[in-house]
Amino acid sequence: ETKPRTPVIWLHGLECTCCSESFIRSSHPTIEDIIFNMISLDYDDVLSAAAGHQLEDVRKKTMTDYKGKYILAVEGNVSTKDDGVYCMVGGDSFLNTLRETAADAAAIIAWGACASFGCVQNADPNPTGAAPISEIIKDKPIVNVPGCPPIAEVMTGVITHFHTFGKLPDLDRFNRPKAFYKTRIHDKCYRRAFFDAGMFVRSFDDESTRKGWCLYKMGCKGPTTYNSCSTIQWNDGTSFPIGSGHPCIGCSEPHFWDNGPFYKR
Ligand code: SF4
Ligand code: SF4
Ligand code: F3S
Repeated sequence: ETKPRTPVIWLHGLECTCCSESFIRSSHPTIEDIIFNMISLDYDDVLSAAAGHQLEDVRKKTMTDYKGKYILAVEGNVSTKDDGVYCMVGGDSFLNTLRETAADAAAIIAWGACASFGCVQNADPNPTGAAPISEIIKDKPIVNVPGCPPIAEVMTGVITHFHTFGKLPDLDRFNRPKAFYKTRIHDKCYRRAFFDAGMFVRSFDDESTRKGWCLYKMGCKGPTTYNSCSTIQWNDGTSFPIGSGHPCIGCSEPHFWDNGPFYKR
């Protein structure tokens, strides 16, 4: 109760804001617990009450008052083509704002496939030169929390870890927290028994679909995708894509848009 909250600046680049949508739906810990007890969300172009110059002043004040101590959370990736003109925030390019804000951050959290690996914006032919955060910022520790979006409890779990232990969690080879990305969807999938028995869905509208057989022959990427969807699940443990009858499209793996097709015939 006496521990000071960690200051957080949350920037938004080229993105769809669904990472924020996911974040505010965390059930354990709740978003209220996060923002009232663990972090001080000083700047967030989506959630802050302030706007315009007032909000930009808050970002600069946090950077000065908490130099080297604040966490920079980034949702979205960075337009690099033509000096970053395809993503402008507060009168400057997101490219410049990111570089400026990262300079004195303690660490960076890259939310979602966009910030971690690029996502749809940097899929071929990548017209705006969209790049993940790690290609722009090279001198800060970065934790990638991919998924499109990431699971809410995975996002708040990363923040809880930092708040509790004062350091980033252990990371895998793609800088993802091992605690949430160490097993494949396939390892814990409830349809695994059908996979092992060779019982596969071959069409989205036949009896095999109604019986809930394995989606591998429909293009499921669960065997090569590392994430917590088949264990933690979504919406407070309600379901996940495969539970709703859709193959995993590998949204927590690098360049999943270019690693298609999403469907096989
Ligand atoms: Fe949206 Fe996906 Fe990017 Fe998150 S990772 S901002 S959900 S497109
Ligand atoms: Fe594996 Fe996908 Fe089949 Fe589940 S549905 S058992 S993740 S291939
Ligand atoms: Fe993404 Fe696959 Fe989970 S598509 S949401 S990693 S089941």
